[in-house]
Amino acid sequence: MNKSFVAVVAIVMLNIAVPASAEEDARLAEARKVATSLPPKLVGALQEEIKKSGFDGAIPVCRDMAPKMAGELAQQTGWKIKRVSLKTRNETRATPDAWEKVALEDFDKRAAAGESPAQLEKGEVVNNEYRYVKALPVQQLCLNCHGTPDNTADAVKQVLAEHYPNDRATGYSLGQIRGVISVRKPL
Ligand code: HEC
Repeated sequence: MNKSFVAVVAIVMLNIAVPASAEEDARLAEARKVATSLPPKLVGALQEEIKKSGFDGAIPVCRDMAPKMAGELAQQTGWKIKRVSLKTRNETRATPDAWEKVALEDFDKRAAAGESPAQLEKGEVVNNEYRYVKALPVQQLCLNCHGTPDNTADAVKQVLAEHYPNDRATGYSLGQIRGVISVRKPL
């Protein structure tokens, strides 16, 4: 039998055997790529702005730049993208829906049980959409604006109090989960 014929038969058979999971693997990979492309860009922009205007001056980066970058990424990729958290700073933007809440609670449990927060992710087909979340671990940089009061400069506390009277996103320590990047795309 001709070798390429065997290969074609093998590919066709594989496709017949595992169509759903191959498709899901591809979706998972795509969702992961979109979700992981945002945080490094944000952290880069934050660091730039912190250098120029301090932590209090960098607050607009988290406030305005994050949704702007997410909007641009959505236009480029077709994936809707946002950040959500169980302890929100901006409750209008960042309150999780039921599916996200389940994932966030599960990630907190798994991190408390010793799993590395950086590895925590979940991808799933939900109501004709592919949905994916990836945990955002608290790093040293984040503590300046999401840490305990004694970690936080007075100027930062002041700007936060002004813009976020219902701020619940403080008191974090290193390695906890600040929230998730959440992406979704219709099938
Ligand atoms: C300069 C201060 C500052 C630093 C540093 C900072 N953040 Fe934020 N963060 C904010 C502000 C302000 C908001 C509210 C943004 C908004 O209005 O949507 C926010 C919101 C968020 C949200 C959206 C959910 C919510 O609570 O509204 C996540 C997730 C988040 N930050 C994660 C991080 C992570 C992870 C780091 C470290 C890599 C970090 N932040 C560093 C100021 C900061």
